[in-house]
Amino acid sequence: MILVENVVKLFGRFKAVDNVSLSVAPGEIHGFLGPNGAGKTTMIRMIAGLLKPTSGRIMINGQDLARAPIAAKRSLGVIPDRPFLYEKLTAGEFLTFCGGLFGVDEENGLEPRIAELLDLFDLTAWRDELIESFSHGMRQRLTMCSAFLHRPRAVVVDEPMVGLDPRGAQLVKQVFRNMGRKGVALLMSTHTLEVAQEVCDRVSIIHEGRIIACGTVPELRALAHSSEQLLTPIFLKLTGGTGLREIEDVV
Ligand SMILES: Nc1ncnc2c1ncn2[C@@H]1O[C@H](COP(=O)(O)OP(=O)(O)OP(=O)(O)O)[C@@H](O)[C@H]1O
Ligand SMILES: [Mg+2]
Repeated sequence: MILVENVVKLFGRFKAVDNVSLSVAPGEIHGFLGPNGAGKTTMIRMIAGLLKPTSGRIMINGQDLARAPIAAKRSLGVIPDRPFLYEKLTAGEFLTFCGGLFGVDEENGLEPRIAELLDLFDLTAWRDELIESFSHGMRQRLTMCSAFLHRPRAVVVDEPMVGLDPRGAQLVKQVFRNMGRKGVALLMSTHTLEVAQEVCDRVSIIHEGRIIACGTVPELRALAHSSEQLLTPIFLKLTGGTGLREIEDVV
């Protein structure tokens, strides 16, 4: 369960996140959509405990992130938009290191867990290779292995599909759906609206730091007074069009 209550984030006088409340129930895949600069990464970094909210409260699986940060983060998996990986470690060494951070060690099944995750994300053959030789998509898949090692009950993902090939994207969608079936609460920001429409149970739309709409795709359609079946035109309508100048005049 992820619960965000009245969260505000100020950078100086600029309000990047403006009184955001949202909840992701166990088993729910919740899409977090919004134009560039809307505040998605800022919100996700606050849920991950990487940025401190100016005000408001964040609860992860019943634990208050401000009061009990270690307990809250213990059951959380985080996949950032720009993952930090140690270039001079091999994939296997990196996962052993991450396991240690979450208290997963040899006694509680670290080795088979690493093996099954590398297998799931098609990286078994790369286990002993240095991360510096990994392509962008391989880094993304390794980051997912590291985030899921400790079987988190809540997951936040910032732009999971960037850089993945169609097979990788398909795999990630299936992994997310499976986690949802197993009761994991998953919050996912994405610009790939087809993916959001395909896998998300509910969607929140953030615009200029504020949640302007939240619901299932049919609910958003009703909110936008739109007959469209696709999320993209509904999203554009809710967030005020394409925002592009007359293309003809510019290029
Ligand atoms: N550390 C910071 N200091 C000052 N301003 C910041 C900082 N981090 C983010 N911002 C500002 O907050 C706003 C929201 O940024 P954020 O990265 O959360 O957007 P986003 O919704 O993730 O956008 P994108 O779709 O491009 O990833 C932007 O105007 C950004 O410039
Ligand atoms: Mg972002």
